[in-house]
Amino acid sequence: MMSGAGGPGAAVGSSGFAKRLLVTGGAGFIASHVVVSLVENYPNYLIINLDKLDYCASLKNLETISERQNYKFIQGDICEPHFIKLLFETEKIDIVLHFAAQTHVDLSFLRTLEFTYVNVYGTHILVTAAYEASVEKFIYVSTDEVYGGSIDEEFDEASPKRPTNPYASSKAAAECFVQSYWERYQFPVVITRSSNVYGPHQYPEKVIPKFISLLHQNRKCCIHGSGLQRRNFLYATDVVEAFLTVLKKGKPGEIYNIGTNFEMSIVQLAKELIHLIKKTNSESEMEHWMDYVKDRPTNDLRYPMNSEKMHNLGWRPKVPWKEGIKKTIEWYRDNFRNWKNAEKALEPFPVTELFAQLDVP
Ligand SMILES: NC(=O)c1ccc[n+]([C@@H]2O[C@H](COP(=O)([O-])OP(=O)(O)OC[C@H]3O[C@@H](n4cnc5c(N)ncnc54)[C@H](O)[C@@H]3O)[C@@H](O)[C@H]2O)c1
Repeated sequence: MMSGAGGPGAAVGSSGFAKRLLVTGGAGFIASHVVVSLVENYPNYLIINLDKLDYCASLKNLETISERQNYKFIQGDICEPHFIKLLFETEKIDIVLHFAAQTHVDLSFLRTLEFTYVNVYGTHILVTAAYEASVEKFIYVSTDEVYGGSIDEEFDEASPKRPTNPYASSKAAAECFVQSYWERYQFPVVITRSSNVYGPHQYPEKVIPKFISLLHQNRKCCIHGSGLQRRNFLYATDVVEAFLTVLKKGKPGEIYNIGTNFEMSIVQLAKELIHLIKKTNSESEMEHWMDYVKDRPTNDLRYPMNSEKMHNLGWRPKVPWKEGIKKTIEWYRDNFRNWKNAEKALEPFPVTELFAQLDVP
C-alpha cells in the first residue's frame, strides 16, 4: 500500500528532491514525530516511510502530512529481503533512519524469538541492502537498555553492553551487525542510544500513556514490583531534535547517547499523573489509584547515561517535564481511540500469570 507522492517505484523524478530519506517504523511513536518534522521542515527532501503497520502503529499519527508531495508511505516488512532489496533499487535512497522494531519489553519475555527475528534479522537485512545500495548514511536507533541497569555508574558510549531482557538483547545484537559494516567496509553507520521517550502517538501499552489512559477511565495504575525503578524521560520533540542533529552532524562509525538527567521512579510517576489527572495531593487517595502487581523477571533499576557527545554536537533537551506531560495528558484525552485496539493495551499484562505458572522467581 502506498500513499502520498508517487506510486510503486515511481521515483518521483530522482532530480526532484535533494535527498531521499527512508524512515522505517514511521507509523509508530518516535518515528512518526521524526517523519512529520522532516516532511514539514525539509520540503526539498523526499521522506519515505516504510512500516508494516503492526498492532502499535497508527497512520493517524501522520494525518497532518499524509497528502504532502514530499511524503510517501509504503507498507512493508523489513524482514522480507527481496522486497527490501527492490525498495533500495527503485527508490534510490540516500539516507536511512531505522526505527522499526518490536519495542515492548514485557512482551519480549513472551515472544523472544519474534523480537530476535524483527530486531536482529530485520536490521541485518536492512543494513545489508543499504550497504549494497551505497547509501550515504545509515542511522540505527538503539536504546539505553543495551547497557543493562546500574545504580550509580554513569554509562558513556564506550561502556560495555550488558542487556538484561530479550528486547535489549535483540537491540544490542542488531547494533553489532550494524557496527560491523563500519568496521569491515567503512560503511557510514551511526548508532544512537536514547532514554525513554514520552509524548503523543505512543501506543498505550507503555508506562506513561498506559497510566494516563487508565486514570482517564477511572482505573488504577498497575505498578510492576516495588515501583522503585527509576527512568529518564525525554519529550518526543526533544528526541526529534536529537535525530535531526545526528542526521546533520553525526560522524560515521560513532555511537551517541541521547539522554537527560531528568529521572523519576515509577511510583513517583504514578503519583505525579494521579495528582495532575485526579487533582489530589492526598497520600491515601494516591494509594487508592495504585495497584502493585508481580514484577517481570528482570527490571533494571536505573540507566544513568552521559550525553556529552550529543551536547558537543549542540543538542540538549529543552522541554520541561511539566510542559511535556501536560501536553501528553491532553493529547490522550482526545486521541486514545487513534488505535482500534487501544483498549487491549490497558488489559493486565499476562507476564504476571505466565511467570507464576512457570515458577520463575
Ligand atoms: N520508545 C522509547 O522510549 C524508546 C527509547 C529508546 C529507543 N527506542 C527505539 O526507537 C525505535 C522506535 O521506538 P517506538 O517506541 O517509537 O516504537 P513503536 O513500537 O511505537 O513503533 C515501532 C514501529 O515499527 C513498525 N514495525 C515493527 N516491525 C516491523 C517490520 N518488521 N517491518 C516494518 N515495520 C515494522 C511498527 O508497525 C511500528 O509502527 C525502536 O527501534 C526502539 O527500540 C525507543
